[in-house]
Amino acid sequence: MHSHAATAELQQFTTLSRILHWLTAILVFSTLLIGFTMVSSVSDYATLLKIHKTLGVVILAVVIIRVVNRLTHRPPQPPPTVGRFERILIVTSEMALYALLLAQPLVGWAMVSATGRPVVVFGSLRIPRIAPANLDLYWVLRETHSVLAFLLVAVVAAHVSAVLLHSITLRDGMLARMTFRLPRTRSRHANQAGVGEPAAPAASVE
Ligand code: HEM
Ligand code: HEM
Repeated sequence: MHSHAATAELQQFTTLSRILHWLTAILVFSTLLIGFTMVSSVSDYATLLKIHKTLGVVILAVVIIRVVNRLTHRPPQPPPTVGRFERILIVTSEMALYALLLAQPLVGWAMVSATGRPVVVFGSLRIPRIAPANLDLYWVLRETHSVLAFLLVAVVAAHVSAVLLHSITLRDGMLARMTFRLPRTRSRHANQAGVGEPAAPAASVE
């Protein structure tokens, strides 16, 4: 990315990383919400499941791009408020998020495959079945899909809590590493990121 050099001094993720992050967040929140809603809905079940499956395979595609992007672009150094142990926690939780976001749609896809029926997304697009038609297998995958969904909710909650703890309590500008801002506000965030002047004056601008 050409913007990489420009954003490096702001200690931000690249533009592509930020777009992919927020795209994933919106897709994952929607898919979780629709997933939990549809299983207790009678009248809208079929429609919601169609949307759910489509969003799910879109997540799979976006996350594959994200993993490639992560492997080819080193994230910015963590803020100085992040200690050695916390660094390990952060990296572990991010790896867990990537793993869950890859596993969950694959399990969903395999689960539908195991019913023996065609797997249809985007309304009418048939994608290949990735598991044999087998009722026992279906139930294992169905159960796994629920467990992974709850794990995902837990890790996302921890992730968001950690970001808010840093940004609001420690005021180290961690959230700004992932957000988009107008050029006008740049210098303020640059300060928060520990570049240029000390962070103290910036932190008092609320
Ligand atoms: C990251 C992607 C995904 C997330 C976060 C997700 C989440 C969920 C959640 C929360 C439920 C309800 C679980 C429960 O309450 O027991 C669910 C059910 C389900 N999901 Fe997914 N899902 C994803 C991807 C997929 C994909 C790609 C497919 C299929 C192509 C799929 C097919 C299903 C099916 C068939 C059900 C169960 C419907 C039923 O038993 O009535 N999901 N999903
Ligand atoms: C489903 C929702 C979300 C998922 C799956 C998710 C996933 C991730 C992942 C995998 C990373 C690591 C980025 C990388 O190094 O490639 C990350 C970083 C980050 N996320 Fe999220 N995220 C979600 C929601 C949120 C929300 C709601 C916020 C805002 C409060 C947020 C704020 C951040 C920030 C600030 C970073 C950068 C942390 C740093 O400075 O190292 N995320 N997220």
